[in-house]
This record gives sequence, structure tokens and C-alpha cells, in this order.
Amino acid sequence: MLARSLAVAVLATTLALTPAAAQAPQTLIINADQGRDTISRHIYGHFAEHLGRLIYDGIWTKQPSGEWRIRDDVVQALRAIKIPNLRWPGGCFADYYHWKDGIGPRAQRPSVVNNNWGGVTEDNGVGTHEFLDLTQRLGAEPFIVGNVGSGGVNEMQEWWEYVNHPGKSPMADLRRKNGRDEPWNVKFWGIGNESWGCGGNMRPEYYADEYKRYASFLPSYGNTRAFRIATGPSDDNYAWMEVLMRDAGRMIDGIDLHHYLLTGTWAKKGKATDFTEAEWAELMQKATGFDELLTRQSAIMDRYDPRKRVWLIVGEWGTWHQGEPGSNPGFLYQQNALRDALVAAVSFDAFNKHADRVRMANIAQTVNVLQAMILTEGPKLLLTPTYHTFEMYTVHHDALLLPISLDAGRYVNGDRSMPAVSATASRDKAGIMHVTLTNIDPNQARTINVSVRGQSVSSVTGRILTAPLMTAHNDFAQPNAVHPVGFEGARISGGMLTVQLPAKSLVVLELK
Ligand code: AHR
Repeated sequence: MLARSLAVAVLATTLALTPAAAQAPQTLIINADQGRDTISRHIYGHFAEHLGRLIYDGIWTKQPSGEWRIRDDVVQALRAIKIPNLRWPGGCFADYYHWKDGIGPRAQRPSVVNNNWGGVTEDNGVGTHEFLDLTQRLGAEPFIVGNVGSGGVNEMQEWWEYVNHPGKSPMADLRRKNGRDEPWNVKFWGIGNESWGCGGNMRPEYYADEYKRYASFLPSYGNTRAFRIATGPSDDNYAWMEVLMRDAGRMIDGIDLHHYLLTGTWAKKGKATDFTEAEWAELMQKATGFDELLTRQSAIMDRYDPRKRVWLIVGEWGTWHQGEPGSNPGFLYQQNALRDALVAAVSFDAFNKHADRVRMANIAQTVNVLQAMILTEGPKLLLTPTYHTFEMYTVHHDALLLPISLDAGRYVNGDRSMPAVSATASRDKAGIMHVTLTNIDPNQARTINVSVRGQSVSSVTGRILTAPLMTAHNDFAQPNAVHPVGFEGARISGGMLTVQLPAKSLVVLELK
């Protein structure tokens, strides 16, 4: 039996729930005794491309000497959300990137053109050593994407040897000459990026053959075995997945699916902070559609890999809006509203639900690009609403997924209708249960009766992320307009946990 108790949250939320706004109680059942799959922390991974102000003037800042130095505040912020991995150097940039341009004395590194992103000069000031210094400081696993489109097998093989060979070899010796004795032991290795598009416009049959050729030349060194990641489909391109699994599945460890969420069309995308409720609903419906996309792509993988050895990796995902006015359109600099934070939460719930197959994901992208965690302006830095979603979901990292059954009604806007509430429940290694609940309905609060089966719960604490407006966001004048605060809307009474979930909110609860 659940005992009556409520642990008071640290900070009081100012958001009261008006009874008139609440709908009839809805139900969430958590089957605490039926967990099977672990939610990989790698689902909460990130992506840093040489694009716009992400690498240069984002994570790295230029010193008066002309050297690029990692920003301590960026490292601190990313460590606080327990960044588990970082994908680099692209993106489309990866299939242009020649890694030898980015090693050795900086003054001798060539400048090249970043053809995909604004045609700007890339001075190669940040290369392999700098990136791997960063991942070490972050405590994150590096995920390097090799160049298939304009590179070659030998070039990729040599990069692999450079970062991983522990003994004497031509590339290990070159690494030592450049100041690094020990190998970095990088295991996550992408073989091309979007090879169906910017990475070479290949047919799946052709790419599958290319993939096998490249994958054959990444030998194990010491204890480091390549975890070989193939370019996966774009969105619902099921034919790509089918052919890849059929022709190359046995040599693949992970398949990198890309899926972006936008309003309007690719040619005329909606805005990040100036949108209507119809556009809110459009984006939320796309986020709730992640579940079906993953179900269908997984079903194809299951036919060739019933034991689920191959990871489905959502290697690029997130919202893609119009760039901010006045910014370089090739830099993909966009603002980030409460809407983006809730889209991230709903997407995570889909990834977590598919934890048996989805073992990694990388949001696009970490700083100053697309659905960023962090925006910078000179020395200033702000955390976006999406950052806060990542922080609130750290409780699920490597936790046991607990099956749930949720019926919380529907959010309807015009002819769009979707489940109003999305959730994940998990139990961490210390035995503590956490639930994240997201109400995507911007108008209606919901009362959720939560019943926990198979585990007694006597106390609940929580935090909430919400704001008065759908379009609320953080900017450099008001960097804390959207941030989590303590939540008082959860109570245990008569053996039942009841949650008063305000409209357009994300709540994380800790149950003991
Ligand atoms: O994230 C921006 C771009 O989107 C990436 O470079 C590419 O892989 C994708 O099309």
C-alpha cells in the first residue's frame, strides 16, 4: 500500500492548476515489476558539426594569440547534463573532411572552404586532437564520422590507426610526433554520412557494397574494436533500411537514421518563436510520429536481426526552423522555445520506449546550430529550454525502462488529433523510480491518477518546466525565462499518486 506522504519540492512553482481547466482524471499505470530493457545513456547524445558558430565561436573561442581554446562554461554546462557521446565532424561536412588537414602545428594547417555551410573558410584550427581533448574534458565518448563521399578507404583506415594504434605504426608514430603518446581508443565510427544525399547521392545497393569495403579495413587494435555505424535511412525511407540490412547487416553494428521535425515545408519552414497554435500542433504531431517511424524501421531490422544486435541510432534529429533574422542562412542559427523542449521530451519518450533497439541518438546540434542546448553571444552563454529537457531526463540514463500504460486523452487542434500526454518511467541503479510526464496540450491541464504495480511508493518529489506562453524562450536579455522549478502538483493519498499536470508542461517525478 502506498503511504500518505508528500515531500515538498525545493522550489515552489507559481503555476496553479485551476479546477475548471482540468479534465476528468486520466490514468497512468507503471508496471514496476516488469522491466526488461535498459535505457542507454547514449540516447541522450549530441552532435557537433563544423557548421556556423558551433565549433568556432561556440565550443571554442579565439584567443588573442589566434589559438582556439575550449570554453570552460560550455564544458561545465554539458557535463551537467551528463553528455554521453559527441558525434563529429559532421554531418555533410564529414564527407568533405580530410583529417590530415587538421593535425600538426596549426600555422601549417591548410585553410579550406566549407562548401556545405555558408562557403566560409575553415582554417582547421580544430581537428582530431582538439576534438578528442574536448570529449575527454566532457567525459563523453567520441563518435567520429569518416569520409566516404570524397575520401577513400586508405584515408579512413589511416585515421582509425592514428587515433587507436597503441604500438609502433606509421600513423601512431605521426600521432606521437604531434604530441600524443597514448591512443584515444575511439570505438564509435561512422562510415559516411547521409550517403543517399550530401554524402554521395548513392543507391542503397551501391552504398551497402561501399560500406562493406570501408568496414573491412578497421582492424581491432589492443582492446579497441570498431563499432561500425552505417549511414541509415532518411525518415521513412524503408527501402534503404531493407537493402542495407539485407546486403550488409552482418557487418553493421549501428544504423544511423536521420529525422528532422519542422513546420511548413523545407523551402518555407516555420519560425522558432513566432508561431500559431496550429504550428505548435503540427510540430507536436510530428514528434508523436517518432514512435511509428521507429516501430516500422525496427520491424525491418528485426527480420534480419531478430536478436537485436544492431543498434538503431537516431544520429541526427531535432527541430529545424527558419534561421534567426540577420543570421547567415548557411549557419542554421535558430532560437529555441518551450515548444522545442516539449518536442524533445516526446521524442525521448519514443526512443526510450524502443530501448531494445534504439541505443543511441544525437540531437542536432549542441551549440548555436538548429535545436541547440546552448546559445552564445561573445562571452555570454545561455541554456535553451531544450537543454533543460536533457537535464530533466538524466534520471533515465542507463536506468531500467518500466513498461507503462497511459490513457490521458487527446489534444485536438483543427483536424489534428494526438495523445495529449507522453511519459517514460524507469528505475535507476539505486532502486529509485522516476517518471517524466509531458502534457503537449497548450490549453488544458490534466489530472493523472498514477498506479504503481509491483513496488510500494510512499513519497514523491518533482520539478516542472513550463511557461505562460507557448512561444516562451530564453534570450540574452532574459536568459532564464524558461527553466525548471520545484513542482507541488503531485500527491500520494489513499494509496494513489495523483499528478496535476499543467498545460504545456514537462514534469519529472522521483518516487520512493
Ligand atoms: O544538421 C545539419 C545537416 O543536416 C547535416 O550536416 C546533414 O547530415 C543533415 O542533412
